[in-house]
Amino acid sequence: MNIAPLTPGFAGDVTGIDLTKKLSASQVAAIEAGMDAYAVLIFHDQHFDDDTQLAFSRNFGELEISSGGEMSKPEDRRLKLEMADISNLDRDGALRGADDRVRLSALGNRLWHSDASFRAVPAKYSLLSARIVPKSGGNTEFADMRAAYDALDDATKLQIEGLVTEHSNAYSRELIGFPKENYGDRNQDKLRPVRQSLVRTHPVTGRKSLYLSAHIGTIVGWPVPEARAFIRDLTEHATQPCFVHAHVWRPRDLVIWDNRTTMHRARRYNDLGEIRDMHRSTIRGDAMTAPQQEAA
Ligand code: OGA
Ligand code: MN
Repeated sequence: MNIAPLTPGFAGDVTGIDLTKKLSASQVAAIEAGMDAYAVLIFHDQHFDDDTQLAFSRNFGELEISSGGEMSKPEDRRLKLEMADISNLDRDGALRGADDRVRLSALGNRLWHSDASFRAVPAKYSLLSARIVPKSGGNTEFADMRAAYDALDDATKLQIEGLVTEHSNAYSRELIGFPKENYGDRNQDKLRPVRQSLVRTHPVTGRKSLYLSAHIGTIVGWPVPEARAFIRDLTEHATQPCFVHAHVWRPRDLVIWDNRTTMHRARRYNDLGEIRDMHRSTIRGDAMTAPQQEAA
């Protein structure tokens, strides 16, 4: 296995390994070491189906049960519970229409975010497998939150140390004007904000990173408008082109990213006319980043 850096220290292009086969402990360790160094790894020509993708994913920890389909009832799912459906297809494989609620909610992926930051124990890795890609558009962009942290001035580093943010899917959907009521009673409890540290330290490398996400609604102890303005500033800083790598998808690409140290966003494409079918497995994190508020 060889890793070629796509930018210095961020995003690596990996060759010389077939991830659909059972891997040895040393191969898994090499991938983890690559993730610690580059935060995003890109593998081409990986002929996954859902079972081989889930088997490969389990090398890195416990799988998260997808909540991406919050808008769809469990019986309307196209993929199994461990697989997030990052496509524009309905259960029958037909393109979703312009007003489809699942489509509108999923447009939240166009905002810079970190997966599942709205969970008390947020995600570690996401693994996204491209099955069908559109002719143009639909790139995924990744931003390096370690480099973004390092580039802050000392006064800002001091100011953000110890700050705790509140994350909820309701905030990111509010940003795109998707009504909270559309979640239905069934899902309201999933919208309860959770607390996360604004600065995270990577458990292996010890590097600090900014933990930002479109799901942030406020900073604990701050007036909301001041918190949102500040988070917007930090997000603008952290997503400057010098911190960003854009991935142009080919069918059968697998991209793994570390949600603890990166943000990502989807770019637009002709989703009403062309199929984009991506399957995402997600590895659970192993700890909360901040103590949660006591239940009222
Ligand atoms: C995701 C996601 C972006 C994309 O799978 O978590 O945000 O480009 N995907 O589809
Ligand atoms: Mn995502």
